[in-house]
Amino acid sequence: MEKYINGLFVKTAGNAKNQPIIFVHGFPLDHSMWNKQFKGLSKDYYCISYDIRGLGKSHVGDAQYTMEAFKDDLFSIIEDMKIEKAVLCGLSMGGYIALRAVEFAQDRFNALILCDTKAEADNDITKLARAGAINKINIEGLASFVDGFVPPLFAEEANKENKTVFNSTIDKAKQHNPQGVKASLLAMLSRTNTTPFLKKIKIPTLLLVGAQDKLTPPPVMRAIHEKIKDSEFGVAPRAGHLAPLENPKFVNDMISGFLKRRI
Ligand code: MLT
Repeated sequence: MEKYINGLFVKTAGNAKNQPIIFVHGFPLDHSMWNKQFKGLSKDYYCISYDIRGLGKSHVGDAQYTMEAFKDDLFSIIEDMKIEKAVLCGLSMGGYIALRAVEFAQDRFNALILCDTKAEADNDITKLARAGAINKINIEGLASFVDGFVPPLFAEEANKENKTVFNSTIDKAKQHNPQGVKASLLAMLSRTNTTPFLKKIKIPTLLLVGAQDKLTPPPVMRAIHEKIKDSEFGVAPRAGHLAPLENPKFVNDMISGFLKRRI
């Protein structure tokens, strides 16, 4: 089912009586990056994904976003759908939103799944790279930014094996509203550091990372695993920064095994 909640495009699959899993996508992607998880997991779980404000089919509005507003958007969906306790699964920027949401109200979630993400805020080098990205979009256009930013997110092997996914991810990223993409970059640049909170996470947590992730490589995710007491860690072979897209079978098996054991 597809609908709009608070200007956000929301897609669901599966039986609403089952345990809900809310999937939060990465940048500059959209809800469809979770299609393979919907296919594999909606038999047993109520799968929910949405387009983050400004991206995909969600409204752009005034394009003045913060990570805090992204977290509030997530809770607006949770409240509107009357979800008592969800499993929250975020990739990269979706992971930043998920970590802040759990920091804000851990009791609203049964479990946390973090894919290819980090807890630290941007350092100065990354802030300057974000500024450069905004400048590039202003001068050369969104397509040029996407052509430079998205290909390295994939593992080299996966590019060749999975040309269709690779090409469609790039094509979809070029369809976003450039204002929404630039505003997402500023929201990431100004986000808080959730590292001190990691040791306070009490809900079962699964950390997944692509073996060839160059942005948030396995040691970065392992460090998060070591700080969260009740956490499990998996490295997806043949995957870069977009493990759920690049190796959906591994990711789905890890998620369903973890949830069956832990909730
Ligand atoms: C993402 O995959 O969501 C972004 O690349 C994360 C980031 O740029 O920090």
